[in-house]
Amino acid sequence: MRIRNICCIGAGYVGGPTMAVIAQKCPEIDVTVVDINEKRIAAWNDKNVENIPIYEPGLPEVVQEARGRNLFFSTDVDAAIDKADMIFISVNTPTKTYGIGKGMAADLKYIELCARQIARVSKTDKIVVEKSTLPVRTAEALKNILDNTGNGVNFQILSNPEFLAEGTAVDDLMDPDRVLIGGDIDSAKGKEAVDALVNVYAHWVPKSKILTTNVWSSELSKLTANAFLAQRVSSINAMSELCEKTGADVTEVAKAVGMDSRIGSKFLKSSVGFGGSCFQKDILNLVYIAKSFGLHEVADYWEQVIIMNDHQKRRFASNIVSSLFNTVSGKKIALLGWAFKKDTNDTRESAAIYVADYLLNEQAEIVVYDPKVKEEQIFADLDNLNSRSEEENRKRVTVLNDPYEVCRDAHAIAVLTEWDEFKEMDWGKIYKDMLKPAFLFDGRRLLERKTKEEIGFEFYAIGS
Ligand code: UDX
Ligand code: ADP
Repeated sequence: MRIRNICCIGAGYVGGPTMAVIAQKCPEIDVTVVDINEKRIAAWNDKNVENIPIYEPGLPEVVQEARGRNLFFSTDVDAAIDKADMIFISVNTPTKTYGIGKGMAADLKYIELCARQIARVSKTDKIVVEKSTLPVRTAEALKNILDNTGNGVNFQILSNPEFLAEGTAVDDLMDPDRVLIGGDIDSAKGKEAVDALVNVYAHWVPKSKILTTNVWSSELSKLTANAFLAQRVSSINAMSELCEKTGADVTEVAKAVGMDSRIGSKFLKSSVGFGGSCFQKDILNLVYIAKSFGLHEVADYWEQVIIMNDHQKRRFASNIVSSLFNTVSGKKIALLGWAFKKDTNDTRESAAIYVADYLLNEQAEIVVYDPKVKEEQIFADLDNLNSRSEEENRKRVTVLNDPYEVCRDAHAIAVLTEWDEFKEMDWGKIYKDMLKPAFLFDGRRLLERKTKEEIGFEFYAIGS
């Protein structure tokens, strides 16, 4: 079976880049990305590709090449579903904020809405691909909804979890470590659907890197991969606190440990805490699933990864307060970086949000600079916490486009995202314009201690 027409529901951080790369690599397949968010679709269609709604290095070039040729962005969800042989579901699955599983389970209402829409609109057989990260056995729920329409359409459900990391999404998509496709490989129709998706990826990914499994293994592998990655960050962050107490240096420890080929050197960078839309959500999901099967030891084991991460963010913020003579009330604190990592404008679960909130609770005045995050996003993130009124957030937080202005007259600076440009700034000038003693807290181990101390900064880096 050859795929001619793909529809992707959800034009976000996953759907957008993934479909752009599929379209670029498969010129004979028409790819339509749809979303109910009109503003987002308009931005994807902006004449100037630099204005697409997500910042991702290399993505504008890919969109430029494919858009209008075989890559389309639209709000007409029904029309795109109707035409497609294969439908990717890439909608958001946030953690539930209400009811059973609140704060833990994934909220599947957007997925279910998609399934119902697909069921209502489809007149021909479709392959439905779960792209969003979902709890194990979601495919079964999807199949249940789709198979009960009574219109005789055959649906095959595949799980094809996305492993791209933001900031490197285009490279990750072009040259993935592996592509994972889960399907009903024991049935002829299921196998045919799996092969159809394998053939899409085989346009540019070597077959040896395309793994096929049953649906549940695929769903669980994605949660497991993210849990393992997050666990590494929490593990090194746990060591960072011990390093600070013992005089060890966490970078040296990470290097020594990572040179063991059984451990490996990646994902051992100590930080103010991991963020992003996946790690916390996926682990909470895992914890929830484990608990629902009565596996309390398994649940507690993974929950500790989140507990450590929350501790790291709090510890970093409380260290700022204690270093500033136990009070930051009325003091100006400059935050450099708001995104959850460099090279993205995504702020979901960013450590910066929680550090800012902690400092605001201590009555600090916060001034923020991030090269890619917009002011409205920063306020939305703070408002979402419901820690104080929207007016109060706007009174106490200022967002500026100039990092030097942000640091002027500040009592302290905290580096919260590892943007390259922070390394290159004129730190001598920044020091001159600050109140003394001038404190510099590096939550990313981005800056060189020696040169900053020579300038005169009171320098603190996480993990040493
Ligand atoms: C992650 C997974 O890497 C990706 O495979 C999956 O598809 C989605 O979730 P992402 O969240 O985009 O990707 O970014 P990632 O690079 O994994 O970073 C997550 C967080 O961990 C960031 O806040 C990052 O700063 C932090 N991190 C990462 C560290 O603090 N130290 C490290 O060594 C690595
Ligand atoms: P991710 O990081 O998983 O890509 P995003 O939040 O960036 O998550 O993107 C998900 C997108 O899915 C959003 O733009 C949202 O508007 C869209 N979406 C959610 N539900 C639907 C739906 N029923 N139909 C179309 N688009 C949807």
